[in-house]
Amino acid sequence: MPLSIAMIGCGGMARAHLNGLIELNKHDYDFQLTSVCDTVDSRTAEFAKTARKEMGMQPTSYRDFRLMLKDSRPDAVIIATDHRLHHVLSVPCLEAGCHVMTEKPLAITIRAGKTMIDAADRSGVILAVAEQYRRGEEQRAIKAALDAGAIGRPYMIFRQGGGVGSGIFCGTPWRHMKEDVGGGPMLDNGVHDADLFIYWLGSVEEITAATATFESSRSGKITTGEHATIEPTADDTGLAIVRFSNGVLGQWSESWAMHGAGFGHTVIYGSEGSINDGVLNRDGEEPVDRETLIATYRQDDLFPHGITNSVTLEQLEFFECIKTGGRPEIDGMVGLEAQAICYAVYESTAAGGIPIKVQDVVSGKVDTYQRELNQSLGI
Ligand SMILES: NC(=O)c1ccc[n+]([C@@H]2O[C@H](COP(=O)([O-])OP(=O)(O)OC[C@H]3O[C@@H](n4cnc5c(N)ncnc54)[C@H](O)[C@@H]3O)[C@@H](O)[C@H]2O)c1
Repeated sequence: MPLSIAMIGCGGMARAHLNGLIELNKHDYDFQLTSVCDTVDSRTAEFAKTARKEMGMQPTSYRDFRLMLKDSRPDAVIIATDHRLHHVLSVPCLEAGCHVMTEKPLAITIRAGKTMIDAADRSGVILAVAEQYRRGEEQRAIKAALDAGAIGRPYMIFRQGGGVGSGIFCGTPWRHMKEDVGGGPMLDNGVHDADLFIYWLGSVEEITAATATFESSRSGKITTGEHATIEPTADDTGLAIVRFSNGVLGQWSESWAMHGAGFGHTVIYGSEGSINDGVLNRDGEEPVDRETLIATYRQDDLFPHGITNSVTLEQLEFFECIKTGGRPEIDGMVGLEAQAICYAVYESTAAGGIPIKVQDVVSGKVDTYQRELNQSLGI
């Protein structure tokens, strides 16, 4: 029997998931997209139409995910909604025996994330986090280069990203509202960074940080096609010092309040060289460009069937884990750790800028920033 797949949330990122499914279908991977669910009918209609045209599949459209679960009983669900809903939607799916892959971050708060991990454990099903950045060719090559000692012993990482100005990021007002998103760019974009920190350099011990909300009003075109003006309740900027367990130091920032030109850099320094945005520079040697780095350190088994689209790869791994009983590379616990690094930024800010141990965020010992979110969610 082919795996039966359902999608909840048919917005921006879900389109990348639909494209991933289309690519898997082209490789004759054995699955059926049986249902699509969104509160906006035009979005499910568009997804169903594309699934029909591109894959010859006939997913049923639903507005209510509970009805979808009852009617269609999918094997697995891909969730791509605003952060506030990740646990609200995941837990009933997991309890119904469905394997779940939720978009990043795992959940809106650490406590919400733990309800998902507990539900998966209770039901004996897979909970995976759709965190695709580390699956990119460059990111995989950087990991292999670091492991091979290409820059010697890692000393420092600098990761900065930003843009947006006073617009509405991705045309989605919810991204600027604390109650829907949890935190601004240090969570939304930052959780990708945090996952790469763990992947490349190991666990993060401590974060010292400050966040700010520079833009009190934002406006722009939103995904409905209308023009909107909003008053954000979430921060739009964060800067942090990252202390890794192995002594590596990091300087990390993300901002959605950068006017003029945005920027983004990822640079790792070690005792013998550096990797600057994918270019390897070793002391006294010619730089190795990104393409050569990727070719040198490529591990073919990480790109089955020659697939390089990172979303397709995460879906393939999720489906294979369901079939074989394997554990996904980014399961609930790995997702929770990345989320806790981001929340350590917010907890440090809430505590007046003092260093916060990531494990105290994981354990729930430190939760001042998240408390009002947990209270409003009743968890
Ligand atoms: N991995 C990445 O690179 C990446 C990139 C963008 C977004 N994301 C993540 O994807 C998720 C969604 O982001 P987006 O940009 O697609 O947002 P979006 O607003 O474009 O899409 C969310 C969709 O969920 C639908 N929805 C809301 N409530 C629902 C409910 N109760 N039942 C069913 N559908 C519901 C909305 O109508 C909307 O169509 C977020 O977790 C975000 O962080 C990940």
